[in-house]
Amino acid sequence: MRLIILGASGLIGGQLYRDAMADSRKVIGTYGRNARDGMRPFDITKDSLNDKLGQIGPEDIVFLMAARIDMNWVKDNPEESRAINIDGAKRIIDKVNAAGAIILYISSEAIFDGVDGGYVETSLPHPLTLYGRQKLEIENYIKDASKDWCIVRTGWTVGRDNFGHNPISATYHTLKRPGAKMAEDNIFTITDVRDTSRAILKLMNQNKRGLYHVASNPPVCRTELADWIMDSSKHRALMNYETVQFKDLTFSEPRPAKSWISNKKLVKEIDQSFIPPRQIAEEIVAQIEADIEEPERTSI
Ligand SMILES: NC(=O)c1ccc[n+]([C@@H]2O[C@H](COP(=O)([O-])OP(=O)(O)OC[C@H]3O[C@@H](n4cnc5c(N)ncnc54)[C@H](OP(=O)(O)O)[C@@H]3O)[C@@H](O)[C@H]2O)c1
Repeated sequence: MRLIILGASGLIGGQLYRDAMADSRKVIGTYGRNARDGMRPFDITKDSLNDKLGQIGPEDIVFLMAARIDMNWVKDNPEESRAINIDGAKRIIDKVNAAGAIILYISSEAIFDGVDGGYVETSLPHPLTLYGRQKLEIENYIKDASKDWCIVRTGWTVGRDNFGHNPISATYHTLKRPGAKMAEDNIFTITDVRDTSRAILKLMNQNKRGLYHVASNPPVCRTELADWIMDSSKHRALMNYETVQFKDLTFSEPRPAKSWISNKKLVKEIDQSFIPPRQIAEEIVAQIEADIEEPERTSI
């Protein structure tokens, strides 16, 4: 049995790759544009799984982590994002299905409209963004076309060495700018990527199939996150915000205010624990501030 991680150069795939390797598993990791030691180049829009990574068999698990995830980029580049997030993903799913292997796909809480929050696996999806619609299209494709599948939905996922899509780092820097606004009704989950990876590997080790919400609960509201950051920052005196409602903020396409997902099913079935979001926020603030003081440091 091989664990084939497509998108192992990314945040979630990278953690999964490291954890699976530490478990002494037979692991193959791939990258797209950012080469990584020990991984293989693989473009999901054109490369052949069997030619590039060896014949896929029914025992193999293919983790489809390769995607473009920046909602603004996806909206501004509908054709390019479709080529990767939809057409590329479907090519891979078809090949995995033909080999009788297992597909594990990562979806997002962005498939919900965020009106109510607390979504469970059976809640009705209604995405507001193009990114959310792309995630839902692939979920539905897998449910229709695949026999052996697991879909993991998650929310904001944070690591310690890549702050590109990190809501804590983004909120930290916004708080230092004049006119910062924080919506008290914007509610989301924040999950440490090590917990995400641990949960995914546990699901596979325990032969779980179907849909799972993997996210830390309870959720966090934006003003609460802003307060945690300010409380733990050495630069608190430079930070301020105005409390607003989510509807008062402007986005280039509608965004869900409270798309947070409930992890009840996961916790009940695999007994998963999560690092508290406040602790994650405090650690990331400490890291940002250490990096400001010693710019050559890149990670803790
Ligand atoms: N991060 C989150 O908060 C979050 C939340 C919910 C769901 N998700 C989902 O989780 C999955 C992984 O997200 P992530 O945070 O790990 O994303 P990420 O850090 O942006 O990584 C994306 C990965 O996809 C690869 N990739 C992009 N285009 C590719 C292509 N054409 N062919 C092959 N590989 C390609 C990238 O490779 P290179 O960098 O080498 O080009 C990278 O390894 C995505 O499906 C995302 O939608 C993430």
